[in-house]
Amino acid sequence: MDKIKEVQEEALRAIQEASDLDALLQVRIRYLGKKGSIQALMGEMKSLPKEEKPAFGQKVNTCKQEVTAALEERQKELQKKAVAERLEKEKIDITLSGDRLTLGTTHPLIMIQQEIEDLFLGMGYKIAEGPEVEQDFYNFELANIPKDHPARDMQDTFYIDPNTLLRTHTTAMQMRELEKAKGETPIKLICPGKVYRRDDDDATHSHQFMQCEGLVVGEHITLADLKGTLEFMANRMFGEGRKIRFRPSYFPFTEPSVEVDVSCPFCNGKGCSVCKGSGWIEILGAGMVHPHVLEMNGFDSEKCSGFAFGVGLERVAMLKYGIDDIRNFYINDVRFLKMFDRFD
Ligand code: PHE
Repeated sequence: MDKIKEVQEEALRAIQEASDLDALLQVRIRYLGKKGSIQALMGEMKSLPKEEKPAFGQKVNTCKQEVTAALEERQKELQKKAVAERLEKEKIDITLSGDRLTLGTTHPLIMIQQEIEDLFLGMGYKIAEGPEVEQDFYNFELANIPKDHPARDMQDTFYIDPNTLLRTHTTAMQMRELEKAKGETPIKLICPGKVYRRDDDDATHSHQFMQCEGLVVGEHITLADLKGTLEFMANRMFGEGRKIRFRPSYFPFTEPSVEVDVSCPFCNGKGCSVCKGSGWIEILGAGMVHPHVLEMNGFDSEKCSGFAFGVGLERVAMLKYGIDDIRNFYINDVRFLKMFDRFD
């Protein structure tokens, strides 16, 4: 009986002294395991006289229960302690000021391009792509710009060799698409991209700039469709209430050709410094695809017709954001580009 008491006291002490869960597990094994001290006490029962066995057995059981209860209690304590220690160790000081991640921003011209792409994709247009280094054939010949046309003047075009040039307008892509369609209609596409001209750079000219051209070919396509489409675009790009005005113009690949004005978004058509008092701002060139262009590309101009327009993206961005120098788009001044940070 004394031995039982001794083992129990020893076990309870060991339990209190166990300083972590691993140590406690060792104590459990030492006292409650199959080869543990309490099991050993059970073994000693065999050698006792019969009448002492029940009392002894009971005492060992009580000892076992008490040790188990103490173990469990200590285990809870130690678990709590372990969690507290972990929380302390993994604590994040959220009061520390963070490092700001400097991210690049979308270029304003790309923003305009994406806006235009979005609105035309919404109307079921496809987006076409083509090479910036282009053949004379697509840039001029198929677009009804004959060899002696002034637009071919060396002043305007960067030639690489007599048949190869940097495309001067996105119309080159239109011609590729028309040729590819092999007379099949309908065609509904836009072609955004960079174009190049031998201009001297100043506030409104750049030797490299961006255009987005639109082309629709099908049956019964009229100037009214062009007007409606451009009005829709103007409303989306410059705000509701924009009106569209056509003025006669000339492009070799369209007939009739028009210069398109939009009612000034700054004064709502009343006249201000931006529209120079006229209430209108010129934004793009357009027209009905020249029947000769359709024929050259394998379309029957008696059966189908089409409209085309080409808009300068810099021009749209300059109007929309009030930018007065086209060179701002290309000198990569971070202070300028940061102004278009949508997340700032
Ligand atoms: N290609 C013309 C330009 O660069 C724009 C244009 C496109 C005009 C389509 C009419 C039709 O100025």
